[in-house]
Amino acid sequence: MENFTFYSPTKFVFGKGTENEAGKLIKAFGGSRVLIHYGGGSVVRSGLLDRVKASLEAEDLDYVELGGVKPNPRSGLVYEGIDLVRRNGIDFILAVGGGSAIDSSKAIAAGSVYEGDFWDFYCGKPILKALPVGTVLTIAAAGSEGSGDSVITKEEGMFKRGASGEGIRPRFSILNPELTETLPPYQTACGITDIMAHLYERYLTNSKDVEVTDRLIEALLITMKNEGPKVIADPNNYEARANIMWAGTMAHTNSCGVGRSQDWNSHNIEHELSALYDCAHGAGLAVTMPAVFKYVMKHDEARFAQVAKRVWGVDTAEEGIEAFRSFLISIGMPSTLGELGGKEEDIPTLVKNLCYGDGRDGTISGFVTLNEDDCTKIYKNMI
Ligand code: NZQ
Ligand code: ZN
Repeated sequence: MENFTFYSPTKFVFGKGTENEAGKLIKAFGGSRVLIHYGGGSVVRSGLLDRVKASLEAEDLDYVELGGVKPNPRSGLVYEGIDLVRRNGIDFILAVGGGSAIDSSKAIAAGSVYEGDFWDFYCGKPILKALPVGTVLTIAAAGSEGSGDSVITKEEGMFKRGASGEGIRPRFSILNPELTETLPPYQTACGITDIMAHLYERYLTNSKDVEVTDRLIEALLITMKNEGPKVIADPNNYEARANIMWAGTMAHTNSCGVGRSQDWNSHNIEHELSALYDCAHGAGLAVTMPAVFKYVMKHDEARFAQVAKRVWGVDTAEEGIEAFRSFLISIGMPSTLGELGGKEEDIPTLVKNLCYGDGRDGTISGFVTLNEDDCTKIYKNMI
């Protein structure tokens, strides 16, 4: 196991009705003027936004609202948010929604206390300082509620890139599994896929003797394998929703990724798909992961065979990858580039953006270092 520091100071408040505590939590973390940031309207339609606003009003907190975050959140709204924060003297940002609303909130939080262009953070500058962010999560998926990461798409060039830093880890996150019951089945399945991807990205390691984190990841993967189909069959299964929601958070706080190298090639390869085709991140991952895993399997077949046996109950590396692919299809996920709207003739563009976009040197590295030729073959394998 490698040396590590683990610091994950987010306060998680979990369970039914917890969104009504938003106002009290903001006050406890020193907020007085709040930006409530949300997506395309699901939180308006479900009545959640009204409940959250009532909880702020009960604590005499001032707020302004900014909705309209799109899935695969864009830089344009971040600039708008930064301007709004500065003009209104906002000192706390509350994201109400999924990974997109949370990531856009984090970008605004970092950008509004930075003199330069917020995009600098998405080109590698670590985020050390930001306004405090809290979240009310409505979809178990991205894990942004417990992560120090944010992913934004720059409209010029449609580059989708991530930024990281302790400054943007949420101060608190409210996790009420009931709020996820209004999700369309497809979005639920995208969330399940993303959670499993965050586990696999950590499982694919070159570090030795990482038994504790291997076992934690396997436990979470088994949970997802068992609970996922239950919520697809019955969207109102609270207990299954609850298990998935906490698994999603644990999958990405990095508690099961410490002390080991990690992969993230599938995420990087997928981000080009959701940037170009505006597909859901989870759906893109469902197509990407089996193609990547098959391509890199020989690098450490024993590792793939281990997860195959322990999680999927099959013997070989290849059977494990196939079992995972079949599982994803069974919950309603796509398995080919075409289903995402992708075309073979786009592959050179995807590869160019992936390997050279925003200052990359022609390769992406993780479990295995991949060059242009490798990435071309992987995208072709998705056809
Ligand atoms: O926009 P609204 O109207 O709210 O609708 C959303 C959106 O259309 C809908 N939705 C969310 N909760 C709902 C609901 N509909 C009905 N009932 C509810 N309770 O679902 C759609 C997807 O929402 P979004 O926030 O985009 O989903 P997700 O949480 O999967 O976030 C995806 C984004 O997170 C990034 C992805 O790349 C993508 O841009 N990621 C962020 C990470 C991080 N910050 O740590 C890590 C991840 O790997 C990922 O890359
Ligand atoms: Zn992800």
